[in-house]
Amino acid sequence: MRPHEDVHGFIAGGINHEDMARFFFFSLAFDQIRKEEVAGDLVELGVYQGHTATLIATMARRLGRTAWLFDTFEGFSERDLQGIDVAVQGTAFADTSLEAVRAAVGDTNVRFVKGFFPDTANEVPADASFCLVHIDCDLYAPIISSLEFFYPRLAPGGFMIIHDYSSLCWNGAEKAVDEFFADKGEPVIPLPDYSGSVVIRKTRAPRSDSNWLNRKRADCWRMSGYQLPLAAYPTSLEPAGGRRSIGASGEWETPTGCIWLCRLGKAACMNWRSTVTSHCSARERQ
Ligand SMILES: C[S@@+](CC[C@H](N)C(=O)[O-])C[C@H]1O[C@@H](n2cnc3c(N)ncnc32)[C@H](O)[C@@H]1O
Repeated sequence: MRPHEDVHGFIAGGINHEDMARFFFFSLAFDQIRKEEVAGDLVELGVYQGHTATLIATMARRLGRTAWLFDTFEGFSERDLQGIDVAVQGTAFADTSLEAVRAAVGDTNVRFVKGFFPDTANEVPADASFCLVHIDCDLYAPIISSLEFFYPRLAPGGFMIIHDYSSLCWNGAEKAVDEFFADKGEPVIPLPDYSGSVVIRKTRAPRSDSNWLNRKRADCWRMSGYQLPLAAYPTSLEPAGGRRSIGASGEWETPTGCIWLCRLGKAACMNWRSTVTSHCSARERQ
């Protein structure tokens, strides 16, 4: 991914400003999908105004695949507000529309599927498979139905990310995930993002060629082949407590800046990582 280009849609309107951990997790997941050539399309269930969908659609375009975006585009359905979610505010997330999301995300390589899930699942072709499934619909009923529908269609090595698991707010998310994965081989891994997502990767068959990933690594870095101008990074991405130097290089000076920049560099490309790493080493020597 190219974080300095891709971040703008994700943080548009100030919605996800506090959730850069999610942004970088997606960026790294996308790079890994490309490196390992994990097969299949990308899907998000729970799109709302399309902030994460902009990232998913960008990745689909770069991979030449389809981003499937499922939502009522009218907020929660009364049909889901039962059991553990009976007290949830039913009007949440209604301030969106398919037209507005289409304008923000773009049409190319995107299939918008408007309506109540799982009723809309029949839009997916019988032979579809997915390299990345993002489930972000908050409530027990759509989460459990989407796990049941998408898990068998997740390609080997594919990422399934479920939002809100450790949020301590959306109890249906935790219940659905715990129930569903109790008898699966893949344990869930908690992520330190704003709403406590979890991720699994679908088990894949071992390969006899033990060096295949190492070779892919070289290809992947060469392929990205671009330099990230640090000065181009939006100030909104500065780490807390950081300050931006006004020097021509546009480097940040922060207590944790070196670690932070190295992580960004991994997500961006090896060229940039070399630049950042030498900068970090120089600072550590001081
Ligand atoms: C938290 S928002 C999604 C946020 C979005 N992923 C983002 O990153 O900005 C939850 C969305 O799930 C959708 N949703 C919840 N239950 C649904 C269902 N049964 N079918 C379709 N969409 C549903 C709501 O309409 C809402 O837009």
